[in-house]
Amino acid sequence: MQLPLTPDELLTTTRAVRKRLDLERPVPRDVLEECVALALQAPSAGNTQTWSFVIVTDQAAKDAVAGWYRTSFAAYAAAGGPVEAMAPAARRMAESAQHLADHMHEVPALVIPCVKGRLEHRALDGQAAGWGSIVQAGWSFCLAARSRGLGTCWTTLHLTYEREVADALGIPFEEVTQTCLLPVAYTKGTDFKPGPRTDAADVIHWDRW
Ligand SMILES: Cc1cc2nc3c(=O)[nH]c(=O)nc-3n(C[C@H](O)[C@H](O)[C@H](O)COP(=O)(O)O)c2cc1C
Repeated sequence: MQLPLTPDELLTTTRAVRKRLDLERPVPRDVLEECVALALQAPSAGNTQTWSFVIVTDQAAKDAVAGWYRTSFAAYAAAGGPVEAMAPAARRMAESAQHLADHMHEVPALVIPCVKGRLEHRALDGQAAGWGSIVQAGWSFCLAARSRGLGTCWTTLHLTYEREVADALGIPFEEVTQTCLLPVAYTKGTDFKPGPRTDAADVIHWDRW
């Protein structure tokens, strides 16, 4: 199934979906494979294509990944203080993020885009090449998923426990960097709106800063 979205609608309505992930509806393997195939059209430094997508659907493996995510999220949430004290928008996001953390293990597929090599000790240009060689493919995956009625949410908190997750999934930690964790599920309803964002005029610097 392809949603009838224009390119601009696709770009403006691919949101961080947490509460509207349909945890009951299975996601067929071939749909996930299609999304990866589309993602692989993204650019990479030197066209090296040093990417891998670990797609986790086995329940025991999802439990392990979600458990580490939840541990990291708990520390993050505690540092943010009580949600009751937050401004309304921040509170909505905190509650939505808590919901995802609570249900991560129930999401049909957990996708971890990885890139070859370790990035943390590289000089800035090497880091940029590494991250730039996977993040664009990762976002293309999210766009391809959205166009098929699937929701995703770019998350990074599990990376506090990257090594533990690597061990749980058999990812060779010394050779491969995990870059994020994308929960993937069909969305409850397919109507999403553009998010609140800064005006373009406020972030553009013509000719000089
Ligand atoms: C680099 C990055 C890291 C993120 N990490 C998390 C995360 O660990 N957990 C989470 O629930 N959301 C995470 N998010 C989602 C953001 O909160 C979300 O993209 C942002 O609030 C905008 O949401 P919107 O596009 O729906 O408006 C992350 C997003 C990015 C780009």
